[in-house]
Amino acid sequence: MNDLRQGGIAVLDFGSQYTQLIARRVREQGVYAEVFPFYAPPEAINQHHPAGYILSGGPNSVYEPGAPQLPTHILASAKPVLGICYGMQALTQALGGRVAPSHAREYGSAQLVHGGDSPLLDGLPSQMSVWMSHGDRIEQPPPGFAPLAESGNSPYAVMGDVKRGLYGVQFHPEVAHTPQGAALLHNFLLNVCGCTAGWSPAAFIEDAVAAIREQVGNERVLLGLSGGVDSAVAAALIHRAIGDQLVAIFVNTGLLRKNEPEEVVQVFQGEQGIHLIAVDATESFLSELQGVTEPEMKRKLIGRLFIETFADAARRFEGVRFLAQGTIYPDVIESAASSGQSKNIKSHHNVGGLPDDLQFTLVEPLRDLFKDEVRQIGTALGLPESLVWRQPFPGPGLAVRCLGNLTWERLETLREADAIFTDELAQAGLLRRGTAQAFAVLLPVKSVGVMGDNRTYEEVVALRAVTTDDFMTADWARLPADLLARASSRIVNEVRGVNRVVYDITSKPPGTIEWE
Ligand code: XMP
Repeated sequence: MNDLRQGGIAVLDFGSQYTQLIARRVREQGVYAEVFPFYAPPEAINQHHPAGYILSGGPNSVYEPGAPQLPTHILASAKPVLGICYGMQALTQALGGRVAPSHAREYGSAQLVHGGDSPLLDGLPSQMSVWMSHGDRIEQPPPGFAPLAESGNSPYAVMGDVKRGLYGVQFHPEVAHTPQGAALLHNFLLNVCGCTAGWSPAAFIEDAVAAIREQVGNERVLLGLSGGVDSAVAAALIHRAIGDQLVAIFVNTGLLRKNEPEEVVQVFQGEQGIHLIAVDATESFLSELQGVTEPEMKRKLIGRLFIETFADAARRFEGVRFLAQGTIYPDVIESAASSGQSKNIKSHHNVGGLPDDLQFTLVEPLRDLFKDEVRQIGTALGLPESLVWRQPFPGPGLAVRCLGNLTWERLETLREADAIFTDELAQAGLLRRGTAQAFAVLLPVKSVGVMGDNRTYEEVVALRAVTTDDFMTADWARLPADLLARASSRIVNEVRGVNRVVYDITSKPPGTIEWE
């Protein structure tokens, strides 16, 4: 089997907020990249035989006591290295050059000038904008290194030991504000490291199909389908590999959005031909949730019920050893960072904590992929756009968007209002781009209104739409007033029992994206 992960790039993380972005940019050039904490054991870093290393930036000063240092095995490997910002400074320090505080810090855009040709800067314009963010700079490059480019405040904005394939750049080629960044990475990967650009969705699918077949042989695999992107793509991919050996279990909690359960059945059973067990657990979820209004209690209860329902369905397939999950690479990196180990399994929110009689070996075909790659694979596997580009949806579903009493009627009201808002956003092209998450919330208050000649006393819907890259911080989306007007008017006219619509203009922090 041809393993596409071989001969790629290992990215060593020194604490930069852009480390994942470096790996994504490398993959956009068709070369596999993996992220490791800088202190990870050499066996982990080298497990896929990288052709070269990229050292990330970081918040420290390399000359301060206790600052992260370049591990000796990196230079001992004699493979090419590209140090970015702190990574360049760590490389300099390790090789006997000198790093010192800069008189003037450089933050933001800077002009880079380079004259000579080098494999790293080959074909790049002699003057170009780059994005800088540093307080330290190289005072004296290590022996054997030559200056390759300078900026206003960095005489060694790019330096290199061309013979050994060792380079440092003071700026950030991975960010969008460095327009030539992709070209520079391309040069490093192909000219300096000699990588081949074989990482593509089609190649990944072929590779993953072979790996899944090898892992499970002719045994059965269970998979929990949530309706979200990751489990959907995992299901389609595994189905391509092993057909009816895959059994997907979908639990309808009654807390999903309008038409979502129907769409899951239609796409996976109908279009993809997957063996799907759809469990309608609406009644048990709703009856257990009666009278529960405290958000954390709702979450715990829903988590427990979900696991019980899934486990009941799974027990019908006695003897099945494999459980597939839609774990993706950011989940893996996140859990590695929090555990201090290079690789670790993060149990999926939905099916983590299964009872002891259900011990599974995990099948996680997406664990090396970023979200945008997962979407590309989903598209290549023929999943519909509405599913592939779905916005994130919380595990507890509409339960945390239906504030106050959780009844079927109120959930239906919320579903209708949410569908109208989503429809208006989709028509304006603001669902896939322009909002990261947008939804309706049913508030636990009633308000007075007037319809015709009559006074009304009805429910209030809040609309929430945010922009964000990481969901850790978010801003409220500046939606066009006309769109909000249409959504409001349609909701009040088309959804029975609602007489008022408000728009949430709180950023995160101090608010959260969800209301509960
Ligand atoms: P907050 O409300 O904390 O949400 O700003 C951040 C992101 O997390 C999602 N979210 C959840 N996802 N289970 C989940 O799987 C949960 O209990 C949960 N609560 C919030 C939320 O939709 C947003 O994308």
